[in-house]
Amino acid sequence: MAYMVKETIIFKDMDKMAEFVIGKWGELSAKAIRDRGRFAVALSGGKTPVPLYRKLSRKKDMPWNKVHVFLADERFVPYEDECNNYFMINETFLSHVNIPKKNIHPVSTAENTSLKAAQKYEHELLSFFGSKEGMLPRFDLVLLGIGEDGHTASIFPGDPAVKETGRLAVAVSPRDRTNIERITLTLPVINNAENVMFLANGKNKAAIIKKVTDGRNKNLPAGKVHPGSGNLFFLLDESAGKMLSSKPARSTIKKKGGTPCQK
Ligand code: 6PG
Repeated sequence: MAYMVKETIIFKDMDKMAEFVIGKWGELSAKAIRDRGRFAVALSGGKTPVPLYRKLSRKKDMPWNKVHVFLADERFVPYEDECNNYFMINETFLSHVNIPKKNIHPVSTAENTSLKAAQKYEHELLSFFGSKEGMLPRFDLVLLGIGEDGHTASIFPGDPAVKETGRLAVAVSPRDRTNIERITLTLPVINNAENVMFLANGKNKAAIIKKVTDGRNKNLPAGKVHPGSGNLFFLLDESAGKMLSSKPARSTIKKKGGTPCQK
């Protein structure tokens, strides 16, 4: 029987949140490597996960040769552009650990259109997961952020991507202040993951977190994330969780971090 476990955990300190994620990452990757010989993770862009990525970059003893890193979404700009998510994740994390290049699966932003980039990414997903047409890739872990408008990855409210069920990855026209075209995993792929973790910090996320976690806003993209046979975590700092009724499950001292894309 498929079921979803949902857990909201509140931390005062992004460092402690990162520690929790790394602990889970260790557990989940050990199990995935035992069961399938590899650990497949899709990482989010944005500022929130940067302290986590920096902390992961210091974990030299993890079995990086068995870890495969994909992007939950990407901005359609060159790899060396600071708005590119792969650029940020490589700078803060991947370039510091001995993960084989073949284990890193960025979205190819060198294609001449974002549509081509999305199609190429979908092909990469199909060949890596060995999925046949119609079968969905199953990530061991997907890390997501959330926008104040309820977007997640690059699935924005009102965008056709919200309703996409046929594709694994799609191109998205600009919807936010960066005004950059994007490529994103679709909800069916995200919802087929074994574990999905939302990371959110700051008081500006409190309202959207309240809306999404109390399940009343199923129309928001982030509200449509419910891994049918997996686990869903909302990992929040105290400010982001301040509108939730439940008591924080954990609390330590808060520390800020992050390298925003200036554009
Ligand atoms: C991106 C992300 C996006 C991000 C949210 C939250 O490419 O920007 O995938 O979905 O996670 O916008 O961003 P912050 O963590 O910067 O608040």
